[in-house]
Amino acid sequence: MTLRKILITGASRGIGKAIALQLAHCERYHLILHASSEQSLVRLATTLPDNCVYEMMPCDFTDLPATDQFVKDLKGKHSDLYGVVSNAGISRDKALAYQPVKEIDELLTVNLRVPILLAKAAMKLFSKNGAGVFIAMSSCVAEMGNAFQSVYAATKAANTALCRSLAREAGVLHGGQNIRFVSISPGFIETEMTESLSDEIKEKYLHQIPAGRFGTTEDVANAVRFLISDDASYINGGEFKINGGLI
Ligand SMILES: NC(=O)c1ccc[n+]([C@@H]2O[C@H](COP(=O)([O-])OP(=O)(O)OC[C@H]3O[C@@H](n4cnc5c(N)ncnc54)[C@H](OP(=O)(O)O)[C@@H]3O)[C@@H](O)[C@H]2O)c1
Repeated sequence: MTLRKILITGASRGIGKAIALQLAHCERYHLILHASSEQSLVRLATTLPDNCVYEMMPCDFTDLPATDQFVKDLKGKHSDLYGVVSNAGISRDKALAYQPVKEIDELLTVNLRVPILLAKAAMKLFSKNGAGVFIAMSSCVAEMGNAFQSVYAATKAANTALCRSLAREAGVLHGGQNIRFVSISPGFIETEMTESLSDEIKEKYLHQIPAGRFGTTEDVANAVRFLISDDASYINGGEFKINGGLI
C-alpha cells in the first residue's frame, strides 16, 4: 500500500500533536511534521508509534524568507503530497486599539499568509496528482466574534473563505478530480493556547456550551482523521464545526 503524504503544521503540541498521533496510528500516512523548531518536533517524535513513517520540516513562520524556502522545499521534495492540515496558529489576545502593529503583522503572517501559501502549493501539487485534501484551521470566534481577538478572528474567518473559494476554483479548473478544501472550526479546546484565559472567562464559555464541557484535542483530531479519509470524499468547501453545540 502506498502511504499518503500528509503535512501537518504546528504538530508539536496541542491540536496539531493530537492530529499527528491519530494519523500515525492509522498506518496509512507518511507524515511530514512541522513546528517552529526542530527541538519541539524531536519531543513529538518520541511519542509516535515505532512503525510510523515521518519526517520533520521545522520552520518559524514569522520568518518570511524561511517560510518561502519551506514552501519551495515542500514542493521540491514532496511533489506526491496528498494532504495538508494547516493547523499552526497564534492568538495574541489584546484590545485592537492597544495592539502593537508588530503583533498584528505576526497574526496576519502565521494565521493567514502561511495558509494561503500552503493552499497555493497544495492546489498545484494536488492537480498534478489528481487528488488531495487541504484542511484549514478556523475557529468558532470567526462566526461569533470575540472581544480582544479581533485580528485573530479576522484571520480565522479568512481561512474559511479561502477554503470555500478554493473548493470552487478546484471544481472550475480541475473538475472531476478528487481535490477538496475544507475548513474546520473548533470551539473552546483545552490547549496551551486557551490555558492562559482567566477562570472567569472559562466559566463564561462553559455556560454557553450545551455539551457541558470544553473540547479535547482528540475531539478535533477525530474530525480531521475522518475529513482526510475517503469516507469524507463528498465533504468539500464548507466549514466543519467541532464545538459541543456552542454555535
Ligand atoms: N485551542 C483552541 O481552543 C482553538 C480553538 C479554535 C481554533 N484553534 C486553532 O487551532 C490551531 C492549533 O491551536 P492549539 O490550541 O493547538 O495551539 P498551541 O497549543 O498554541 O500550538 C500551536 C502550534 O503552532 C505552532 N506555531 C506557533 N507559532 C509558530 C510559528 N511562528 N511558526 C511555526 N509554527 C508556529 C506551534 O509550534 P511550536 O511548538 O514550535 O511553537 C504549535 O505546534 C490554531 O490554528 C488555533 O488558532 C484553537
